[in-house]
Amino acid sequence: MTTRAVVIGVGHYLPERVVPNSEFEQSLDTTDEWIRTRSGIERRHFAAEGETTSMLGAQAATAALKNAGLVPDDIDAIVVATSTPDLTFPSVATMIQEKIGMTRGFGFDVQAVCAGFIYALTNANALVVSGQAKRVLVIGAETFSRIMDWTDRATCVLFGDGAGALVLEAQEGDGTTQDRGVLSSDLNSDGRYRDMLYVDGGVSSTGTSGKLRMQGNPLFRQAVEKLTSTATAALTKVGLDDNSVDWIVPHQANIRIIQGTAKKLGVPMERVIVTVQDHGNTSAASIPLAMSVGVAQGKIKKGDLLVAEAIGGGLAWGAVALRW
Ligand SMILES: CC(C)(COP(=O)(O)OP(=O)(O)OC[C@H]1O[C@@H](n2cnc3c(N)ncnc32)[C@H](O)[C@@H]1OP(=O)(O)O)[C@@H](O)C(=O)NCCC(=O)NCCS
Repeated sequence: MTTRAVVIGVGHYLPERVVPNSEFEQSLDTTDEWIRTRSGIERRHFAAEGETTSMLGAQAATAALKNAGLVPDDIDAIVVATSTPDLTFPSVATMIQEKIGMTRGFGFDVQAVCAGFIYALTNANALVVSGQAKRVLVIGAETFSRIMDWTDRATCVLFGDGAGALVLEAQEGDGTTQDRGVLSSDLNSDGRYRDMLYVDGGVSSTGTSGKLRMQGNPLFRQAVEKLTSTATAALTKVGLDDNSVDWIVPHQANIRIIQGTAKKLGVPMERVIVTVQDHGNTSAASIPLAMSVGVAQGKIKKGDLLVAEAIGGGLAWGAVALRW
């Protein structure tokens, strides 16, 4: 028997305020048409004043718990992927723990920017398979609107706020790829690419939270290549290939990156979950948001093989293969 971390609940939360591309036309030299054609984004959600990352995460966590039919104290651990915490510390995970009324277990944050959810899911899986936790809430939650430079048209039109969550539970499998649960993961980073995507402030440097800076075009080229290789690596580790994949659940940064990666992997767009048009790039929240939407739309079903892949600042990138 092999212990697997099986998804038994999923949920998401998006802030109420929806901002269409046209809203940027009023303050920036940009158009709805440019944003749509270059990125695939049509609208995004922005958190209200005073609405923090932990608030979004707590809503997503509550939805995922409800979907799993569990109460907060059924959970042993919370792992949150975020680069936009409410405060420098404590962790967003402990804030969510308090907000949802969970009085036991432990929580911590993982920071790998847009690849954060892949890293968090890999860590959560390790907690489950090593027997340290039976049930784990894995959450991606972000308020990237707080780190936008609103005068930089090349970045501020691309990002959005939101949160998504999964509940993982230890279940016994046969040790084959027919088992439900996380089957493999592939993690990578290369700090030499730091300047491609970073925030120009921080606690131990400027003492400020800073604004996002990005070299979009070179990053685009890195993204397609690295996302294809990491997704392939995750599948190969367990003897699977692109033909076995029911759904690619990609990080939602740009429709052209999503299409380019799917093409290189040989998976038709009908088998790719796409939410970038409605959410923009929500960084670590984008994959659990896409999973939750994919389930709600009746696309992702129990037993489907998913490969989730993401890349972001670091650069950090990775993929997880899992059977839903
Ligand atoms: C950002 C991105 C959409 C830009 O698309 P692109 O086709 O690479 O466009 P470029 O950056 O080459 O810019 C082309 C032109 O559009 C302009 N432009 C940039 N943003 C614009 C906007 N919002 N509206 C109008 N024009 C804009 C640029 O200034 C540039 O003008 P120039 O040729 O006069 O210098 C694309 O590079 C991208 O998605 N990159 C990766 C982003 C990503 O994955 N980020 C996160 C990873 S987690």
